[in-house]
Amino acid sequence: MKDKNFFITTPIYYPSGVPHMGHAYSSIIADVFARFKRNDGYNVYFLTGTDEHGLKIQKAAEKAKLDPLTYCNNISKIFKDLTKKLNLSNNDFIRTTEKRHHESVNDLWNRLVKSGDIYLSKYKGWYSVSDEAYYNEDEIIEKNGKKISTFSGSIVDWVEEESFFFKLSSWQDKLLEFYNENKKFILPLSRRAEVINFVKSGLKDLSVSRTSFSWGIKVPDNNKHVIYVWLDALTNYLSAVNYPNIQDERYKKFWPASLHVIGKDILRFHAIYWPAFLLAAKIEPPKRIFGHGWILSGDEKMSKSKGNILNPLEIIKNYGIDEMRYYLMKEVSHGSDGNISLNSLENCINSDLANNYGNLCQRIFSFIKNNCNNSVSRNSNFSESDKKIIKQTNDLTKDLRDLMDNQNLNNYIKSVIGISFLTNKYINDEEPWKLKKSNIDKMNNILHIALEQIAKISILLNPIIPMASNKVLDSLNIKPENRNNSFLDGEKIIPDSINLSSLNILFKKIN
Ligand code: MSP
Repeated sequence: MKDKNFFITTPIYYPSGVPHMGHAYSSIIADVFARFKRNDGYNVYFLTGTDEHGLKIQKAAEKAKLDPLTYCNNISKIFKDLTKKLNLSNNDFIRTTEKRHHESVNDLWNRLVKSGDIYLSKYKGWYSVSDEAYYNEDEIIEKNGKKISTFSGSIVDWVEEESFFFKLSSWQDKLLEFYNENKKFILPLSRRAEVINFVKSGLKDLSVSRTSFSWGIKVPDNNKHVIYVWLDALTNYLSAVNYPNIQDERYKKFWPASLHVIGKDILRFHAIYWPAFLLAAKIEPPKRIFGHGWILSGDEKMSKSKGNILNPLEIIKNYGIDEMRYYLMKEVSHGSDGNISLNSLENCINSDLANNYGNLCQRIFSFIKNNCNNSVSRNSNFSESDKKIIKQTNDLTKDLRDLMDNQNLNNYIKSVIGISFLTNKYINDEEPWKLKKSNIDKMNNILHIALEQIAKISILLNPIIPMASNKVLDSLNIKPENRNNSFLDGEKIIPDSINLSSLNILFKKIN
């Protein structure tokens, strides 16, 4: 079934320095969506990788006194290792220096030539190496004697050279039509509006090759030119699903991509250039571009060139990977920027993980261990408050798929942590510890409901904190193949009589 397949991507990273929290954020958010879809019964292909061509990388290699490929081999490995440290569930890691990618870029280029969308001329204008982007005159200002882009703040250089152009201007109306027919092609909607305004203001043809350096994929039949790194990089999404072999199973299953997760700084490339290239090449564009916000440090985007980076590896070492994942997902969501600090990280770990979800699990498991010999059986005499918490939980879960389908992770987390909060309150109000002698049946029902709630919360938090939630699900003796979202359709998770295994402390409270 076509719609049970889900192809999700992160941006492919420039191996131009050490990975920082912004990179970690882009990757983790995509991983959360990938894991949620897998838990929801989808066949998921999750792709990440490195973007290794272009002047920016050539310059970084020169600075490191290495040839570009050796340089890329070294840094790409650091990014690949990071996927393990971040506990990403990617199925593939693509490098744009791989053969499979060259073939795919060549094919796409040839299609664009064939459709008449590429012509040879001369580029005269501004270029930012740091953004690998061309800017119009009205996007440039002078600051401290230097020309910079008003869009990104990066330094730009004047470039004049022979170049192939893509006829972007002729795709303006078709792009507007495409956005209109695909109302959720770009999310959040504020970003969609930005893109539409930009396209309406007029598109100029795009320079898609360079002649002043050599580190890139050569234009077929013209070795003087290398293909513009963004046309090269965007094509990675096709290469990974075995394009140009369009009869291949993976391509048939997974193209068009379901979701490209990207940061808002690279929206123009994904939401304008990419669909224009694909429409011109008669390839179906992806279904969704989700442009997330930035991780800020102070008021600025965290980035290597600004020197304000927080090292994800240090945070993982000091606080734990689940803790970092949860914090980033909660703090910066649905497209807005988020300021991160160690102080708010610690508050978040204490309030949501240690005191709320962690405490709920720990108190219920230790009570059952100490008082019920690790086993609980339910009966059918539900009280009004039992029924109430079940109903409240159903109300909180009914929109969760929709929230995830709209990449609204912030409200998703709010609802799930809300269920944990409600369950703690239910236990406080019902006081099962007072019923051991007077009404053991009622006590068992309360505990059983608490365990079912814990199972639900753990499955729902599983995409965000896979390690901790799996520890809880292991202790509930729920088999890995049953850790899925089918309870959202009314299925029960735990059996009427359940035996528990012991559960160690999940999250350390930070003092
Ligand atoms: N190589 C291009 C992407 C090509 S995709 C066909 C690129 N690479 S990057 O390494 O500079 O950035 C990768 C991702 O990290 C982008 O989505 C970018 O938005 C994200 N982040 C980099 N710094 C960031 C923050 N401070 N905050 C959040 N994400 C940011 O762009």
